[in-house]
Amino acid sequence: METWERLPVGLDTPALVVDLARVEANARRLQAEMGRRGIALRPHAKTHKSVRIARLQLDAGATGLTVGTLGEAEVFATAGIVDLFIAYPVWAVGPKAARLRALYERAPGLRVGVDSVGGAEHLGVAVRGAPGRLAVIIEIDPGQHRTGVPDPSSAVEVAAAARSAGLEVIGVFSHGGHSYRPGAAEAAGADEVRALVDGAEALEAGGFEVSVVSAGSTPTMLTAATGRVTEIRPGTYVLGDHQQVVLGAIPDDGCAAVVVATVVSVFPDRVALDAGAKSLTKDRPDWLDGYGAIVGYPDLVIERLSDYHGIVRAPEGVSRPALGEVVAIVPNHICPVVDLFDDFTALLPDGSAERWLVDARGRSG
Ligand SMILES: Cc1ncc(COP(=O)(O)O)c(C=O)c1O
Repeated sequence: METWERLPVGLDTPALVVDLARVEANARRLQAEMGRRGIALRPHAKTHKSVRIARLQLDAGATGLTVGTLGEAEVFATAGIVDLFIAYPVWAVGPKAARLRALYERAPGLRVGVDSVGGAEHLGVAVRGAPGRLAVIIEIDPGQHRTGVPDPSSAVEVAAAARSAGLEVIGVFSHGGHSYRPGAAEAAGADEVRALVDGAEALEAGGFEVSVVSAGSTPTMLTAATGRVTEIRPGTYVLGDHQQVVLGAIPDDGCAAVVVATVVSVFPDRVALDAGAKSLTKDRPDWLDGYGAIVGYPDLVIERLSDYHGIVRAPEGVSRPALGEVVAIVPNHICPVVDLFDDFTALLPDGSAERWLVDARGRSG
């Protein structure tokens, strides 16, 4: 973790810091692996919400971006990145319908997720009369039980509604979010592939041409990248976080982003950091201890958070930071953490630092 030993002096904490060399290494490593497998990489940009990092992924060979909201798509389109897949069942009514249409007119290659007949009908109405046919991808539930049609026949039903609504069905996608437990990645990846293949075959039997078979999460980015899968969409892999390290999805040095905090109070049994829930989030799966890993202090646990306080259990005899010391914390889940900051402090390989905006911050809908 020597990267975090050369933090710029005078950082105003709490601060979100990224190490450019690690970001580039993460982007290149996965891109090379997907290149070997002949599978496209369409990273989910909700992790970083940054035009700079998106460009770096595209320069490394990514085919385009995945986003989770219309708002994120609008930000990237405005920056000139128009090969976008909104991997979400957008419910296009009212202002969302008007925004979707405006976005589609700027980004005609746009792809949108759909998992219901009603959702398809609204998308069709939203883009009616616009040139071309909006591409949609049917979401299949691989076992996470979040969104996505539950079985192949429902996929055909939604696809038929999409076609009747004037949309172009181009394939199927899944998100293996049930991989977020130790030891679950192998089976979740296999679930994704199976669900996608079943969905794709049902669509083909129903007369649809399936050119996109899109899987992925960070834990399943390798286990689902096989067979008929044409594209994967991990997001977290590029910045990394504590839960991905514990899950074994990324190496230790794959953590490219930290929250930097200052010790503001010390007590016999604990120390207090100026990073609380409004820097680290309260995201903590039941298989993780604490709200992030403090670099250089492996035995310390961030036990409690209030908005601006992080309370670290520090029993006697355990190495602990001193009052005023600046520490780096690898958050449990980097995606929501990024959305809490206006900007990244980016550490460049020459030792200098730059300020990079979190361009799509707050674009949650
Ligand atoms: C639809 C979809 N695709 C891809 C991803 C990226 O997965 P991860 O955050 O594990 O990298 C997500 C994350 O929630 C998602 O919802």
